[in-house]
Amino acid sequence: MNKEFWDNRYSERELAYGAAPNEFVKESLVSVAQRTFSLLDLGSGQGRNSIFAASLGYHVTAVDLSQIGLSTMMKSKTTSAGQLSIAPIAHDVTTYDLGEKKWDVVLMVFLHLPLAQRTELFRRVIRGLRFGGKVIMEAYAPRHLEMPGKGGPPVRDLLISEEELRTTFQSLNLEICREVSHLIDEGPYHQGQSVTTQLCARKSS
Ligand SMILES: C[S@@+](CC[C@H](N)C(=O)[O-])C[C@H]1O[C@@H](n2cnc3c(N)ncnc32)[C@H](O)[C@@H]1O
Repeated sequence: MNKEFWDNRYSERELAYGAAPNEFVKESLVSVAQRTFSLLDLGSGQGRNSIFAASLGYHVTAVDLSQIGLSTMMKSKTTSAGQLSIAPIAHDVTTYDLGEKKWDVVLMVFLHLPLAQRTELFRRVIRGLRFGGKVIMEAYAPRHLEMPGKGGPPVRDLLISEEELRTTFQSLNLEICREVSHLIDEGPYHQGQSVTTQLCARKSS
């Protein structure tokens, strides 16, 4: 899926994945928020998770291919109560410089890249985390292809298994790494009984 695909999706009247934050992000972020923390949202879309994170006090950098998605996020941000710190960056995450030991949290929510690209990105995410920093992600799992729920790309190579995450993030402390079968209700494009992989992992050294 290229930039045009996402621009078209985000040009529709309804928010593609709703306004509420992803449930796993909501569970995982509440307990770690502090005012001085930096959070990078890779593939931020229309910003539901970035806005939620910023409302908890994070300084958020939101990176996405789609300028239209980022613009929607910035419009929603201005209607939110309070001052939110969100820097929107229209960029391909596969070439975005994450730096080193820079981020307290990196979010990747339903960011589905081909295997070679995501393996390289995950390596750079680990390098980019500060000590004590966390990566939080959710993605559709290969088993989702057998499910009735709507969402995610119908292509095996783009789906992410628990086993892959356990291997790729083995240098981190895996606080949660699991495959879950659950009902999703996130706007028109993520609906119904689905199988996803969830990761919450901390860099301890
Ligand atoms: C399924 S949407 C999820 C959006 C958001 N994370 C959420 O949960 O609402 C996937 C997002 O990843 C973005 N994306 C896909 N490939 C990308 C890439 N190579 N670089 C930057 N963004 C990308 C798309 O533009 C899209 O906004």
